[in-house]
Amino acid sequence: MSLQTLSEWLRCPNCLLPLHPSGGLLLGCERGHSFDVNKRGFVNLLTGQRKFIGDSATMLDARDRFLGAGWFEPLRNAVRTIVTGEFPRRILDVGCGTGYYLGAALPPGDDVRALGMDLSPTAVGRTIHSHNRIDGLVADVWSPLPLLGGGIDVILNVFAPRNPAEFHRVLRPNGLLLVVVPQSTHLRQLRESGLAVEIQADKAVHLTTSLAAGFSLESHERLNRTVQLSPSDVASLIGMGPSSHHSGAAGDDDVADLARDVTVAFDIFGFRRR
Ligand SMILES: C[S@@+](CC[C@H](N)C(=O)[O-])C[C@H]1O[C@@H](n2cnc3c(N)ncnc32)[C@H](O)[C@@H]1O
Ligand SMILES: [Zn+2]
Repeated sequence: MSLQTLSEWLRCPNCLLPLHPSGGLLLGCERGHSFDVNKRGFVNLLTGQRKFIGDSATMLDARDRFLGAGWFEPLRNAVRTIVTGEFPRRILDVGCGTGYYLGAALPPGDDVRALGMDLSPTAVGRTIHSHNRIDGLVADVWSPLPLLGGGIDVILNVFAPRNPAEFHRVLRPNGLLLVVVPQSTHLRQLRESGLAVEIQADKAVHLTTSLAAGFSLESHERLNRTVQLSPSDVASLIGMGPSSHHSGAAGDDDVADLARDVTVAFDIFGFRRR
């Protein structure tokens, strides 16, 4: 990353003018607003107060362990195939987490770049650490995004929140929005044991409806399989997800006897920007 490549994605969260490198580790706009880029190379453009925090280091450690064991590799391969088929030059990952999907989906080529965005600074730090052509941004998807409009070829959104109007603004015409959501059967066995939170039953319908104004549904792929998890896999899986926020989330003792078959089931949607 360089301050130049980072700034090329960004606009000022206060006045919406473009940001440029402005000496040292600073990005600034023409109106004099300036923002520190930290030593790790990413910028935090959050403004105001917010109710939610992103994933914690403990959750990201659990995510790293679980994904590192390869259980979601078929999903990563499917995401890579769809993204590389677009021949993108600019990819934005909203809610990038550890960068597991973005790192794999980034096609070769010095002029092909990606931006990992997340509410969690720890997540963004890990994502940019994973690849030298990924820039990093801490921002809230529910706010107007501090991103310049129209320059992005692909938005990746895997198990993360969405902002349809802002996605439409930052994607180029005809760009691709790739969304992965869990099917209602995802982690069914863990939910039956009270170890995972409920999944909204009509998530896919809700998703398509919420995007209908600016996007056309172009592709829909379903991935379903049963994986045989060890107790430590189960602990990592619970620890990396929303269930870990809830009191009574499983500790190692609770899952000691939980080596078991677990359904993993994803919907992968490709939406074309109108
Ligand atoms: C379930 S994780 C998925 C991470 C990654 N896409 C993956 O699948 O490995 C959801 C991610 O969204 C981030 N997130 C939650 N709320 C957010 C918000 N309002 N704005 C931006 N990111 C957010 C979390 O910090 C977390 O990294
Ligand atoms: Zn400004």
